[in-house]
Amino acid sequence: MLIRIPRGWEIPDRDATAEALVFGRRAALKAAAGLGAGSIALPAFAQDAPPARNPRYLAGREITAEKDATTYNNYYEFGTDKGIHRAAQKLPQRPWTVKVDGLVDNPRGFDIEELLKTMPMEERVYRLRCVEAWSMVVPWTGFPIAALLKAVGPKSEAKYVRFETAALPAAMPGLRQSWYPWPYIEACTVDEAANDLSFLVTGAYGKPLPPQNGGPVRFHQPWKYGFKAGKSLVRISLVAQRPKTFWEAIQASEYGFWANVNPEVSHPRWSQASERVLGSGERIPTQLFNGYGEFVAGLYTNLQKERLWA
Ligand code: MTE
Repeated sequence: MLIRIPRGWEIPDRDATAEALVFGRRAALKAAAGLGAGSIALPAFAQDAPPARNPRYLAGREITAEKDATTYNNYYEFGTDKGIHRAAQKLPQRPWTVKVDGLVDNPRGFDIEELLKTMPMEERVYRLRCVEAWSMVVPWTGFPIAALLKAVGPKSEAKYVRFETAALPAAMPGLRQSWYPWPYIEACTVDEAANDLSFLVTGAYGKPLPPQNGGPVRFHQPWKYGFKAGKSLVRISLVAQRPKTFWEAIQASEYGFWANVNPEVSHPRWSQASERVLGSGERIPTQLFNGYGEFVAGLYTNLQKERLWA
């Protein structure tokens, strides 16, 4: 008898996306057209369907309930507790421009509507592991940052990508805590950004990304701790020197630059061996690179002298 062992990222069948969602609006319209004009009315979800889910990266765990993922947040600009979702609604989502500059051939601003129309949108079900040892699984929509970088043409001297996030005092009461080094800055190497997993997120659960999760656009590299995922991005800069990040500026001994997930390297305040699943509260073992090692471990083979883990 052939026993098929599912690979780590394969989801249970009950989480599989309906065909209409996988093939997206265009295919649904085509299918409807094939049935003859006026023969069926499209269901509402097909008309607003999110882009197709990328079957290459599935989480191997149940998707976190939308309510949990959108009401338990870290967004210090709105306050240091997890219940900032109401306060975050004050962050205007339009108009919104992301400036892409630094060591690139064509520096320019991208209006969020232009990004939504021109970038290769897809849905990715990713695990997110916070350094505080909780985790969730979210169907994000967005596009690989590699597509945006291609549009501006990084110069060969560019080694790092610096992410600057919104700092709007009128909307963000946390900015009054002046001992924090605002704005929230994050960074990765150009090589890491070029990895297909590095994702600019513009939606979640088939809807526009809510402000508390970093709307209208945030970053996410699922093999790193969640603090690397800058929210509500306003500027992406290609630079030659490694930028100092928000958390490194606060406490470099606790929050390193690389911050790759590793169950064997504890944070001074949290063991990283296991994680609490948001929603169910179940504790599960944490995986090296948050389970994405097959896609990213090769990025680090020549960097073994670096402090690769948080
Ligand atoms: N981005 C900004 N601008 N400000 C923040 O406080 N918190 C980070 C990250 N991005 C943070 C941020 C942390 S610590 C985590 S774990 C994730 O966002 C949480 O994302 P979520 O609220 O969507 O779960």
